[in-house]
Amino acid sequence: MTESLQEIARRLVSPGKGLLAADESSSTIKKRFDQIGLTSTFDTRRDYREMLFRADEAMQKYISGVILYDETIRQNAQDGTPLVDIIKAAGSIPGIKVDGGAKPLPGFPGETITEGLDGLDTRLAEYRRLGARFAKWRAVIAIGKGLPTEEAIRANAQALARYAGLCQQAGIVPIVEPEVLMDGAEATHDIARCDEVTRQTLDVVFEELVRARIDLTGMILKPNMIVPGKDSGQIVTGQEVAERTVAVFHATVPHAVPGIAFLSGGQEGAEATERLSLMNQIPNLPWKITFSFGRALQHSSLEAWGGKSENVAAGQRAFLHRCHMNSLAALGEWQPELERQAA
Ligand code: 13P
Repeated sequence: MTESLQEIARRLVSPGKGLLAADESSSTIKKRFDQIGLTSTFDTRRDYREMLFRADEAMQKYISGVILYDETIRQNAQDGTPLVDIIKAAGSIPGIKVDGGAKPLPGFPGETITEGLDGLDTRLAEYRRLGARFAKWRAVIAIGKGLPTEEAIRANAQALARYAGLCQQAGIVPIVEPEVLMDGAEATHDIARCDEVTRQTLDVVFEELVRARIDLTGMILKPNMIVPGKDSGQIVTGQEVAERTVAVFHATVPHAVPGIAFLSGGQEGAEATERLSLMNQIPNLPWKITFSFGRALQHSSLEAWGGKSENVAAGQRAFLHRCHMNSLAALGEWQPELERQAA
């Protein structure tokens, strides 16, 4: 039986589960591998992703869906099993990044527009045949002097809405990701500025989604948390981040949206976990709030693995730990002592 968009969306944000963003493009995964001195090749990328997807306990208990890159959704494990089948066997849903990346927006220095709408209907149909039941499109909003402009926000929101409509038409749940950067070229803004820009961005995004007749019950929002820029020097508490972030959602995200799954955006692993947990302790949330982390789920695992086959078990243990901690956070039950015990 074909699952409805609503059923898939609800499954992606089921209690204590979240998403693994493993959809780094070839240029981004190269940057991650450079950090451990590993050459990025078709095979090393396969080995790395296979290690994560074969971390059975982590995948079965804590990961509702995995966002893949075009290469990965077509790739087989060393023994020939499609990586998609390994994900499905763990009870997790395969998803696919379908945007073509953020490119300079002509006339708007320092701003970008995400490409990839042309031919997207054909690609979505193929991805669905390959097993994808949800997709992701990332729009990037940079904060800087005079940035963002209303025009860049609007252009990106319209692209997100066009993407979301094509996904829903293809029977694929769109993850709508408007990322207000914490680590852009000028990351010196304070938390109040992030708050203001994220509100403005989410307002325009939902305006465009509604105008494009998107079924809000069949999508997931993937936003940033409200945090100061990486180079601001501003110190904030987890509680402040949690309260501000939830307040922004109350002002901008319709209750019809079933779930909000965060990007980590450059936050430390345990820092992102703590903030997620504190949000889930706030009473009367109308949406499920969980994780869709890339770096904050993978960083410790990538380091423990280091590209060496003898370290696969260590890499999987590190991944299991972060998945477990974030699962607790999605339930509002994470405690700092649990991090120390593992260390
Ligand atoms: P990070 O959690 O590393 O920000 O990645 C999530 C993601 O999917 C960005 O598009």
